[in-house]
Amino acid sequence: MKITVNGLPIAYTDDGDGHPLLFIHGFPLNRQMWAPQVGELAKVARVIAPDLRGHGESPRLPGPYEMDLLASDMAAFLDALAIKKRIVICGLSMGGYVAFAFYRKYPERLRAMILTATRAAADTTDGKANRDAMADRVSTMGIMPVVDAMAPKLLSPISLKEKPDLAKKVSDIMQTTSAEGMIGALMGMKLRPDTSGMLKEIQVPTLVVHGADDQIVPLQEARQMADKIPGAQFEMIPLAGHLPNLEQPELFNKLLMEFILRLPSS
Ligand code: MLT
Repeated sequence: MKITVNGLPIAYTDDGDGHPLLFIHGFPLNRQMWAPQVGELAKVARVIAPDLRGHGESPRLPGPYEMDLLASDMAAFLDALAIKKRIVICGLSMGGYVAFAFYRKYPERLRAMILTATRAAADTTDGKANRDAMADRVSTMGIMPVVDAMAPKLLSPISLKEKPDLAKKVSDIMQTTSAEGMIGALMGMKLRPDTSGMLKEIQVPTLVVHGADDQIVPLQEARQMADKIPGAQFEMIPLAGHLPNLEQPELFNKLLMEFILRLPSS
C-alpha cells in the first residue's frame, strides 16, 4: 500500500484497529523487519509500519535524511492517514533516533515510546568519519560493502550460528536498499544531535528493549539511557543482538503487548 506524504508515495503496512502503534525500522532495512510483530500486535493496536524515504518501496531520493526530516515525514504520514489519536511509537536503532526527533518536535502526538537497540548519544568523531568512509564506499562500489560490514554485527553470535535463514533474510532486506538511500541515511545519522540531555524530560511511558548481545549498541549504554528516562521500563532480551524483534519475536511481542495493555486508555 502507498500513500502520498510530503509529495512522496510512501509504502506502508496497516493492520488492526484501535490505538495506533507506529513501527519505525532501522538502517539499512525496511518495514519487512517488523513482519513477526504486525499480525500479533494487531490484536491489541492498529499497527502501522512505513518504509522511510530511501528505503524499501518508498522513493529513492538524495539525502541527507536528517532525523528531523524523517520525523516530519512521519507526522505528515499520520496526517495522511487521518490519525489524530496519540500514538505509541516503536523505533529500532535508526528508528529510535527518529522516535527521539519525533518526541522533540511533536510531544503532544505521543502516547508512549518503545525504544529498541538504540542510543541517545550522537556519533563520536570516529563514528562520523566511519559514516563518511561508508558513504564513499557505497558511492564507488555500491551497497554490498555496507551489507557485508553490517550483516555479521546485526545478529547475536548464537542467532548467526543457529538461524542461517534469519541471517539470509536480514541480508536480503538490506539488499533492497538503494545506494542513494544508504548514503542519505548515513549522512542523516551523522548529523543527528545528542539526545542525552532530553532523556530526563521525557514525559510519556517508555519501554526500552535491548538484546543482551547487541554488538552495535552495548547493553550497558541502553541500560544507562533507560535509567535517565523518568519511570522507564528496561527489558533485556537474552540470546538476541541488534534485532531482538526478529531474533526472539515471541518474547519481544509479549513485552510490547503487556506494555501497551498497561497504558492509560486515553
Ligand atoms: C541501525 O541499525 O539503524 C544502525 O545500526 C544505526 C546506526 O548505524 O547508528
